[in-house]
Amino acid sequence: MTPYQIAVIVGSLRRESLNRRLATAIAKLAPSEFSFRQLEIGDLPLYNQDHDANQAETVKRLKNEIASSDGLLFVTPEYNRSMPGVLKNALDHASRPYGQNAWAGKPAGVLGVSVGAVGTAVAQQHLRNVLAYLDVPTLGQPEAFIHAKEGLFDASGNIGGSSKKFLQGWMDRYVAWVKTHLEHAEAQLVT
Ligand SMILES: Cc1cc2nc3c(=O)[nH]c(=O)nc-3n(C[C@H](O)[C@H](O)[C@H](O)COP(=O)(O)O)c2cc1C
Repeated sequence: MTPYQIAVIVGSLRRESLNRRLATAIAKLAPSEFSFRQLEIGDLPLYNQDHDANQAETVKRLKNEIASSDGLLFVTPEYNRSMPGVLKNALDHASRPYGQNAWAGKPAGVLGVSVGAVGTAVAQQHLRNVLAYLDVPTLGQPEAFIHAKEGLFDASGNIGGSSKKFLQGWMDRYVAWVKTHLEHAEAQLVT
């Protein structure tokens, strides 16, 4: 097992999702001590508070996967100037029942790619708002509002030349962020 396990949450269920491609490609820019696992959120039921005391198996699975991760990576499209409902649904599920929020304390990064010029900026701001409430410390800079353009990915699905420098820089900061956060959390435990 690599020392740093990152749970990746992609906000699109689309087979040819650009955001899933981005999540897969950017993971390759991380050092080998980091491993990335994309979590399934498409099989979760619609959140219903009546079921908090008896969560579905798929919800329990999601919560266990989050609990066993060291960090989070959200890669999401923008739907109608916000995050997609499937992503909000997953956030709500794993935040409950009250007092058993699986997301809390996990260091996170937020990325998104969109065919629109705003590059998911509005969706990311809404997501950051929710993450703040869920007690998820989130990397602030650099922001990554990616506009889907020719050349974003190369023929092998890797990050293409024109975006490589920026996204490598993003990943370097994310890696440092996760490590610093975990060291800080560990230091607090021993003091
Ligand atoms: C319901 C819906 C709403 C959308 N709203 C926005 C939007 O507000 N801003 C934007 O930049 N793109 C918007 N788009 C276009 C998405 O950026 C585009 O479909 C993108 O490829 C979705 O991400 P994916 O490829 O990971 O599925 C919307 C697409 C859909 C299906």
